[in-house]
Amino acid sequence: MPEYVMSNAWEQERRRLAYLEEMADPATQRQFTTIGVTAGWRCLEIGGGAGSIARWLSERVGSEGEVVATDIDTRFLEEIRAPNVRVLRHDASTEPLPEGGFDLIHARAVLMHLSARREVLGRMAAALKPGGWLVVEDSDVFTLSLSPPNPFRSLVEKSIAAVGRVGVIDWSWGHTLPVRMAELGLVEIGAELHGRFFQGGSPAAQFWTLGVRQVAPAGLAAGVVVQAEVDEAVKWLADPKALSCSPGHVSARGRKPPA
Ligand SMILES: C[S@@+](CC[C@H](N)C(=O)[O-])C[C@H]1O[C@@H](n2cnc3c(N)ncnc32)[C@H](O)[C@@H]1O
Repeated sequence: MPEYVMSNAWEQERRRLAYLEEMADPATQRQFTTIGVTAGWRCLEIGGGAGSIARWLSERVGSEGEVVATDIDTRFLEEIRAPNVRVLRHDASTEPLPEGGFDLIHARAVLMHLSARREVLGRMAAALKPGGWLVVEDSDVFTLSLSPPNPFRSLVEKSIAAVGRVGVIDWSWGHTLPVRMAELGLVEIGAELHGRFFQGGSPAAQFWTLGVRQVAPAGLAAGVVVQAEVDEAVKWLADPKALSCSPGHVSARGRKPPA
């Protein structure tokens, strides 16, 4: 049984992932441009979701390159029509990574959901070619505390306090990525951290609303939150007068030393 508490099978998940892509793709593409992703690279996209990054990489690496795009649920990735993209149903927690060595391995908003995140990060670093790049991006909740108290913030903080009961999401993992990459022997490490203030009703607010609705059943079933708290947070997120800082987004890169 996958431990991922969200699900690509949820009727609104495509929409939620589209909001994520809209918000996060610019930072991801900046990392790729910085490291110089180019024609002929062999790339591994882990937990590719709705596929915007696999598509972007496919265009960048061209016909001489390859993008292996994995997910435990490949329903959206299978829509990609590009001869240099290979879609693989694959569980990064339990299965070995595809072999052959990669110039780039990327995972965004995936490892924070896996209890084996540290081991998976190690396997990703090991699967790089000499000189290859690892780009890993995950959330870190601490920027949420920059918000004045609000129903969304209190719902998230309460769920985190009870994290063991609502799943394995680690909301404090993102900021550790640069140090963990260094511990794995990677070099040329760099990272960006983004916090985003958003108003109720905005695309960011809609992304968080859908996230709340995705995980609410697990939180309710575990008795961590009550329906009135979920309803209040959702109502608040729709109010144009509401203003909050989101959890942060950490985008980290490191390179396997060239041979
Ligand atoms: C929050 S979504 C992020 C999607 C995409 N990386 C993005 O940022 O747009 C997490 C994705 O990871 C996938 N996933 C969850 N657990 C996984 C695992 N153990 N191995 C591979 N993919 C996994 C989910 O199915 C989902 O598509």
